[in-house]
Amino acid sequence: MSGAGEPDSGFSDAEIEAGRRLFAGDWQFAAAAGALPALPAMATTEIAFAGRSNVGKSSLINALTGRRALARTSSTPGRTQELIFFESAQGAAAAGLALVDMPGYGYAAAPKAKVGAWTRLIHDYLRGRATLARVYLLVDARRGLMPPDEDILARLDKAAVSYQVVLTKCDALAAAALAERLAELRTQLARRPAAYPIVLATSAETGSGIAELRATIHRLLNERR
Ligand code: GTP
Ligand code: MG
Repeated sequence: MSGAGEPDSGFSDAEIEAGRRLFAGDWQFAAAAGALPALPAMATTEIAFAGRSNVGKSSLINALTGRRALARTSSTPGRTQELIFFESAQGAAAAGLALVDMPGYGYAAAPKAKVGAWTRLIHDYLRGRATLARVYLLVDARRGLMPPDEDILARLDKAAVSYQVVLTKCDALAAAALAERLAELRTQLARRPAAYPIVLATSAETGSGIAELRATIHRLLNERR
Protein backbone atom coordinates (compact mmCIF):
# COMPACT_ATOMS: atom_id res chain seq x y z
CA MET A 1 0.00 0.00 0.00
CA SER A 2 1.27 3.46 -0.77
CA GLY A 3 0.61 6.46 1.41
CA ALA A 4 -1.90 9.16 0.56
CA GLY A 5 -0.87 11.20 -2.42
CA GLU A 6 2.11 8.98 -3.12
CA PRO A 7 2.19 7.55 -6.63
CA ASP A 8 1.90 3.78 -6.73
CA SER A 9 4.28 1.97 -9.07
CA GLY A 10 1.77 -0.82 -9.60
CA PHE A 11 -1.14 -0.47 -11.99
CA SER A 12 -4.57 -2.00 -11.61
CA ASP A 13 -6.04 -4.05 -14.46
CA ALA A 14 -8.47 -1.17 -15.02
CA GLU A 15 -5.62 1.33 -15.46
CA ILE A 16 -3.77 -0.97 -17.85
CA GLU A 17 -6.98 -1.34 -19.86
CA ALA A 18 -7.62 2.43 -19.85
CA GLY A 19 -4.05 2.95 -21.06
CA ARG A 20 -4.56 0.42 -23.83
CA ARG A 21 -7.75 2.17 -24.93
CA LEU A 22 -6.03 5.56 -24.90
CA PHE A 23 -3.62 4.38 -27.57
CA ALA A 24 -5.86 1.89 -29.39
CA GLY A 25 -7.10 4.38 -31.98
CA ASP A 26 -5.42 5.41 -35.16
CA TRP A 27 -2.56 7.85 -34.53
CA GLN A 28 -1.38 10.17 -37.24
CA PHE A 29 1.09 12.90 -38.02
CA ALA A 30 -0.32 16.32 -37.09
CA ALA A 31 2.46 18.93 -37.46
CA ALA A 32 6.20 19.51 -37.62
CA ALA A 33 8.02 22.56 -36.30
CA GLY A 34 11.66 23.41 -36.83
CA ALA A 35 11.37 26.68 -34.92
CA LEU A 36 9.11 28.16 -32.25
CA PRO A 37 6.98 30.32 -34.60
CA ALA A 38 6.05 27.16 -36.52
CA LEU A 39 4.57 25.39 -33.46
CA PRO A 40 0.91 24.40 -33.81
CA ALA A 41 -1.65 26.31 -31.73
CA MET A 42 -1.85 25.23 -28.08
CA ALA A 43 -5.13 23.35 -28.12
CA THR A 44 -4.48 19.94 -26.62
CA THR A 45 -2.55 18.44 -23.77
CA GLU A 46 0.91 17.52 -24.95
CA ILE A 47 3.44 15.02 -23.70
CA ALA A 48 6.93 15.21 -25.11
CA PHE A 49 9.61 12.55 -25.53
CA ALA A 50 13.07 13.93 -24.97
CA GLY A 51 16.49 12.36 -24.65
CA ARG A 52 19.91 11.93 -26.18
CA SER A 53 20.22 11.24 -29.89
CA ASN A 54 19.52 7.58 -30.69
CA VAL A 55 18.11 6.76 -27.24
CA GLY A 56 14.92 5.44 -28.86
CA LYS A 57 12.38 8.31 -28.67
CA SER A 58 10.80 7.71 -32.07
CA SER A 59 10.81 3.93 -31.56
CA LEU A 60 9.01 4.35 -28.23
CA ILE A 61 6.28 6.48 -29.87
CA ASN A 62 5.81 3.75 -32.46
CA ALA A 63 5.56 1.12 -29.71
CA LEU A 64 3.04 3.22 -27.74
CA THR A 65 0.80 3.80 -30.75
CA GLY A 66 1.25 0.31 -32.15
CA ARG A 67 2.44 1.75 -35.45
CA ARG A 68 5.66 0.42 -36.95
CA ALA A 69 6.68 3.55 -38.79
CA LEU A 70 4.58 6.46 -37.52
CA ALA A 71 7.70 8.22 -36.25
CA ARG A 72 10.83 7.87 -38.36
CA THR A 73 13.63 5.93 -36.70
CA SER A 74 17.22 5.25 -37.68
CA SER A 75 20.32 3.55 -36.36
CA THR A 76 22.17 6.80 -37.14
CA PRO A 77 21.85 9.54 -34.50
CA GLY A 78 20.19 12.78 -35.57
CA ARG A 79 17.21 11.25 -37.37
CA THR A 80 14.48 13.47 -35.86
CA GLN A 81 15.34 17.10 -36.62
CA GLU A 82 12.14 18.94 -35.77
CA LEU A 83 9.40 18.76 -33.15
CA ILE A 84 6.95 16.26 -34.62
CA PHE A 85 3.37 16.27 -33.30
CA PHE A 86 1.16 13.18 -33.46
CA GLU A 87 -2.53 13.08 -32.66
CA SER A 88 -5.19 10.43 -32.46
CA ALA A 89 -7.33 10.42 -35.59
CA GLN A 90 -10.36 9.17 -33.69
CA GLY A 91 -11.50 7.83 -30.34
CA ALA A 92 -13.04 9.91 -27.60
CA ALA A 93 -10.63 8.55 -24.98
CA ALA A 94 -7.61 9.88 -26.84
CA ALA A 95 -9.13 13.22 -27.83
CA GLY A 96 -7.07 16.12 -26.64
CA LEU A 97 -3.70 14.38 -26.36
CA ALA A 98 -0.74 15.08 -28.61
CA LEU A 99 2.55 13.15 -28.55
CA VAL A 100 5.62 15.20 -29.38
CA ASP A 101 8.73 13.53 -30.79
CA MET A 102 11.79 15.69 -30.24
CA PRO A 103 15.21 15.95 -31.83
CA GLY A 104 17.86 14.31 -29.69
CA TYR A 105 20.50 16.25 -27.83
CA GLY A 106 24.13 15.47 -27.10
CA TYR A 107 25.01 14.59 -30.67
CA ALA A 108 28.15 16.37 -31.79
CA ALA A 109 28.67 14.89 -35.26
CA ALA A 110 26.00 17.00 -37.02
CA PRO A 111 26.94 20.45 -38.36
CA LYS A 112 27.38 22.91 -35.49
CA ALA A 113 24.72 25.35 -36.73
CA LYS A 114 22.15 22.55 -36.91
CA VAL A 115 22.93 21.27 -33.43
CA GLY A 116 22.70 24.84 -32.10
CA ALA A 117 19.28 25.34 -33.71
CA TRP A 118 17.91 22.01 -32.37
CA THR A 119 19.23 22.73 -28.91
CA ARG A 120 17.60 26.17 -28.83
CA LEU A 121 14.34 24.68 -30.09
CA ILE A 122 14.41 21.94 -27.43
CA HIS A 123 15.15 24.40 -24.62
CA ASP A 124 12.57 26.98 -25.74
CA TYR A 125 9.83 24.40 -26.24
CA LEU A 126 10.45 22.65 -22.92
CA ARG A 127 10.50 25.91 -20.99
CA GLY A 128 7.62 27.77 -22.52
CA ARG A 129 4.79 25.45 -23.53
CA ALA A 130 1.73 25.84 -21.30
CA THR A 131 0.01 22.76 -22.75
CA LEU A 132 2.99 20.52 -22.01
CA ALA A 133 1.75 18.20 -19.26
CA ARG A 134 4.88 16.12 -18.80
CA VAL A 135 8.19 15.37 -20.41
CA TYR A 136 9.17 11.73 -20.72
CA LEU A 137 12.93 11.85 -20.43
CA LEU A 138 14.33 8.77 -22.11
CA VAL A 139 17.56 7.26 -20.85
CA ASP A 140 19.39 4.31 -22.42
CA ALA A 141 19.28 1.54 -19.79
CA ARG A 142 22.81 0.48 -20.70
CA ARG A 143 24.25 3.94 -20.07
CA GLY A 144 22.26 5.65 -17.35
CA LEU A 145 22.22 9.44 -16.92
CA MET A 146 24.89 11.23 -18.98
CA PRO A 147 26.02 14.89 -18.63
CA PRO A 148 23.66 16.20 -21.38
CA ASP A 149 20.75 14.55 -19.51
CA GLU A 150 21.77 16.24 -16.27
CA ASP A 151 21.73 19.59 -18.09
CA ILE A 152 18.17 19.04 -19.35
CA LEU A 153 16.99 17.80 -15.93
CA ALA A 154 18.39 20.94 -14.30
CA ARG A 155 16.53 23.09 -16.82
CA LEU A 156 13.26 21.23 -16.26
CA ASP A 157 13.66 21.52 -12.48
CA LYS A 158 14.32 25.25 -12.81
CA ALA A 159 11.30 25.79 -15.06
CA ALA A 160 9.18 23.48 -12.84
CA VAL A 161 8.22 21.30 -15.79
CA SER A 162 7.11 17.85 -14.63
CA TYR A 163 9.14 14.99 -16.05
CA GLN A 164 9.43 11.25 -15.70
CA VAL A 165 12.46 9.15 -16.61
CA VAL A 166 11.85 6.16 -18.87
CA LEU A 167 14.61 3.63 -19.45
CA THR A 168 14.83 2.42 -23.06
CA LYS A 169 16.44 -0.64 -24.69
CA CYS A 170 15.97 -2.71 -21.52
CA ASP A 171 16.07 -5.84 -23.69
CA ALA A 172 19.83 -5.23 -23.99
CA LEU A 173 20.39 -5.64 -20.24
CA ALA A 174 20.30 -8.64 -17.90
CA ALA A 175 17.70 -8.49 -15.12
CA ALA A 176 20.26 -7.88 -12.34
CA ALA A 177 21.96 -5.03 -14.23
CA LEU A 178 18.55 -3.47 -14.93
CA ALA A 179 17.60 -3.63 -11.24
CA GLU A 180 20.90 -1.93 -10.37
CA ARG A 181 20.30 0.78 -12.97
CA LEU A 182 16.80 1.43 -11.63
CA ALA A 183 18.09 1.73 -8.06
CA GLU A 184 20.85 4.12 -9.18
CA LEU A 185 18.34 6.34 -10.98
CA ARG A 186 15.97 6.42 -8.03
CA THR A 187 18.80 7.78 -5.90
CA GLN A 188 19.85 10.30 -8.56
CA LEU A 189 16.28 11.58 -9.02
CA ALA A 190 15.31 11.72 -5.34
CA ARG A 191 16.75 15.20 -4.89
CA ARG A 192 15.30 16.60 -8.11
CA PRO A 193 12.15 18.64 -7.42
CA ALA A 194 10.29 18.22 -10.74
CA ALA A 195 11.02 14.49 -11.18
CA TYR A 196 8.10 12.08 -11.01
CA PRO A 197 9.38 9.49 -8.54
CA ILE A 198 8.73 6.39 -10.64
CA VAL A 199 11.20 5.24 -13.29
CA LEU A 200 9.73 3.00 -15.98
CA ALA A 201 11.73 0.26 -17.72
CA THR A 202 10.76 -0.26 -21.36
CA SER A 203 11.78 -1.96 -24.56
CA ALA A 204 10.32 -0.88 -27.88
CA GLU A 205 11.86 -4.07 -29.27
CA THR A 206 10.07 -6.59 -27.02
CA GLY A 207 7.19 -4.39 -25.89
CA SER A 208 8.04 -4.79 -22.20
CA GLY A 209 6.91 -1.86 -20.06
CA ILE A 210 4.80 -0.35 -22.88
CA ALA A 211 1.46 -1.23 -21.24
CA GLU A 212 2.70 0.41 -18.00
CA LEU A 213 3.83 3.54 -19.88
CA ARG A 214 0.39 3.80 -21.48
CA ALA A 215 -1.20 3.41 -18.04
CA THR A 216 1.01 6.10 -16.52
CA ILE A 217 0.01 8.50 -19.33
CA HIS A 218 -3.65 7.64 -18.68
CA ARG A 219 -3.08 8.44 -14.99
CA LEU A 220 -1.48 11.77 -15.87
CA LEU A 221 -4.43 12.80 -18.07
CA ASN A 222 -6.88 11.72 -15.36
CA GLU A 223 -5.07 13.87 -12.80
CA ARG A 224 -5.32 16.90 -15.09
CA ARG A 225 -9.04 16.57 -15.76
P1 GTP B 1 17.08 10.63 -32.88
O1 GTP B 1 15.80 10.99 -33.54
O2 GTP B 1 18.21 10.50 -33.86
O3 GTP B 1 17.43 11.50 -31.72
O4 GTP B 1 16.95 9.11 -32.28
P2 GTP B 1 15.74 8.47 -31.43
O5 GTP B 1 15.95 8.74 -29.99
O6 GTP B 1 14.43 8.86 -32.01
O7 GTP B 1 16.03 6.91 -31.65
P3 GTP B 1 15.31 5.91 -32.67
O8 GTP B 1 13.95 5.57 -32.20
O9 GTP B 1 15.48 6.40 -34.06
O10 GTP B 1 16.20 4.58 -32.42
C1 GTP B 1 17.59 4.61 -32.51
C2 GTP B 1 18.13 3.20 -32.64
O11 GTP B 1 17.88 2.47 -31.44
C3 GTP B 1 17.50 2.39 -33.77
O12 GTP B 1 18.49 1.63 -34.40
C4 GTP B 1 16.51 1.50 -33.04
O13 GTP B 1 16.26 0.29 -33.71
C5 GTP B 1 17.21 1.26 -31.72
N1 GTP B 1 16.23 0.98 -30.64
C6 GTP B 1 15.16 1.73 -30.31
N2 GTP B 1 14.47 1.18 -29.30
C7 GTP B 1 15.11 0.03 -28.98
C8 GTP B 1 14.87 -1.01 -28.01
O14 GTP B 1 13.92 -1.00 -27.23
N3 GTP B 1 15.79 -2.02 -27.97
C9 GTP B 1 16.85 -2.07 -28.80
N4 GTP B 1 17.68 -3.11 -28.68
N5 GTP B 1 17.09 -1.14 -29.74
C10 GTP B 1 16.24 -0.10 -29.83
MG1 MG C 1 13.91 10.27 -33.39
